[in-house]
Amino acid sequence: MTRRFGGLTAVKNVSFAIAGGELTGVLGPNGAGKTTLFNLLTGFVAPDAGEVRFAGADITGLARHRIVSCGMARTFQQPRPFRLMTVEENVAVACLSPRGRQQPGRSLRDRVERVLRLVGLEGKGRTPVESLPYGALRRLELARALATGPRLLLLDEPFAGLGTSEIEPLAALIAELHRRDGLTVLMIEHKLREFMRLVRRVIAMDFGEIIADGSPSEIVVNPCVVTAYLGGAEASIGTA
Ligand SMILES: Nc1ncnc2c1ncn2[C@@H]1O[C@H](COP(=O)(O)OP(=O)(O)OP(=O)(O)O)[C@@H](O)[C@H]1O
Ligand SMILES: [Mg+2]
Repeated sequence: MTRRFGGLTAVKNVSFAIAGGELTGVLGPNGAGKTTLFNLLTGFVAPDAGEVRFAGADITGLARHRIVSCGMARTFQQPRPFRLMTVEENVAVACLSPRGRQQPGRSLRDRVERVLRLVGLEGKGRTPVESLPYGALRRLELARALATGPRLLLLDEPFAGLGTSEIEPLAALIAELHRRDGLTVLMIEHKLREFMRLVRRVIAMDFGEIIADGSPSEIVVNPCVVTAYLGGAEASIGTA
């Protein structure tokens, strides 16, 4: 895919495949085109060239809600809840989507509570979104995506703004969703230590292009990635 904004090519001839069941990371410096890539995959932005195929079907140009109905859900770099609603109302909206309705639970309330439990927000259902602490807002963002019953989950910086004590349980949850529930995950992150432990494969981008694609241990020593990320080949990406 390629996508230009005026004179800037935000995503340039990017081509890759994700197999079902993979847990893959997208890495790259600010402005590399990572979020634009997610916007292209999920129908928030149309490509100037190229196509998106999902589970064998061409989904390029489909409306966003149709893409969600195909089983692809995303979170946003800046959480985007319905601000004037409670936590459970936010999740309920997603549970009412076509795939959300097919999730386990006899009633809408059961489905909402199951998702809240899954992300560790049980007991917080009645809380207005406006009074949620930031860490809980990030979990709500994940809950809303999960409630649509995705097969492929795209996470845009799920750890952003969180401390280590909040990141570790969230990383464990993502690992469990992948391992236990077989969810395919593609995630953007800058918090490298936790990120590199979690993912099995990393796609690295710079100036809109893929500059490397490999295992975390290959990526952290890749000279192109180190230069792009830290601006000097002598630097190293510490993940210990
Ligand atoms: N809707 C838009 N209109 C104009 N320019 C845009 C738009 N969306 C993204 N861009 C530009 O495209 C480039 C890539 O942006 P993008 O948000 O994809 O980067 P990113 O890799 O997600 O960066 P970050 O790590 O800071 O989130 C940036 O230069 C950005 O300003
Ligand atoms: Mg971004």
